Amino acid sequence: MDGVVKRDKLYEGKAKIVYSTDDPDLLIIHFKDAATAFNGKKKGSIPGKGAMNAEISAIFFGVLQRSGIPTHFEALLGADEMLAKRVGIVPVEVVVRNVVAGSLAKRLGLPEGTALGRPVLEFYYKNDELGDPMINEYHIYAVGLATEREMSEITRLAMKCDEVLREFLEPRDIELVDFKLEFGRYGDSIILADEVTPDTCRFWDRNTREKMDKDRFRRDLGGVEEAYREVLRRVRS
Ligand code: TMP
Repeated sequence: MDGVVKRDKLYEGKAKIVYSTDDPDLLIIHFKDAATAFNGKKKGSIPGKGAMNAEISAIFFGVLQRSGIPTHFEALLGADEMLAKRVGIVPVEVVVRNVVAGSLAKRLGLPEGTALGRPVLEFYYKNDELGDPMINEYHIYAVGLATEREMSEITRLAMKCDEVLREFLEPRDIELVDFKLEFGRYGDSIILADEVTPDTCRFWDRNTREKMDKDRFRRDLGGVEEAYREVLRRVRS
């Protein structure tokens, strides 16, 4: 990957900055220490988060890729940057849940930690102005956010990610409570894009059920940086 030259800033999001490169098929993604929650209403910074999330994401993308899930990941570049394939992001955020937490606890009036009989799949319209509202496949097809073929591939890949990540995390004593994925169009195929990190997943310690993810920041629980560091330590091993 030597010789890829960073060019223009294409997009700055809440947690990442995306740059073009001299190769039209490749992007550089910079992971920021900045953290937001509740659609940007809460703002802060988690020291070292950018580098930790870049490495955690790289490890997960590697695991997923080796299990046959195509991803945009190409290489880590330095501490907090990643080289990735340039995709067109499908504007549908995909959430997979194994245990009741967060917005599902509120929606169903169930305590956090309640086991789910099978994984739950949810879709959200990726639109910051609207606060990423929940949608279903009828909305997606009626408005043309994605095709039925794309959604069937996205669903298959999201469920496979759940299986692969759970199996990888279990011996590392991490319970995969839920997570959010974004997919991209790459040529004729759909590939996993964005990131897989404690910003976008709920990770609980399997023994103590202690939170090891961004909920520590969202809910002012303290020990945010330490939790990310511990996730990194466990997934490195
Ligand atoms: P939720 O319970 O708040 O709906 O979140 C479900 C999962 O999605 C959780 O692992 C956190 C992740 N998530 C994001 O990555 N970005 C978001 O904007 C939201 C609301 C949740």
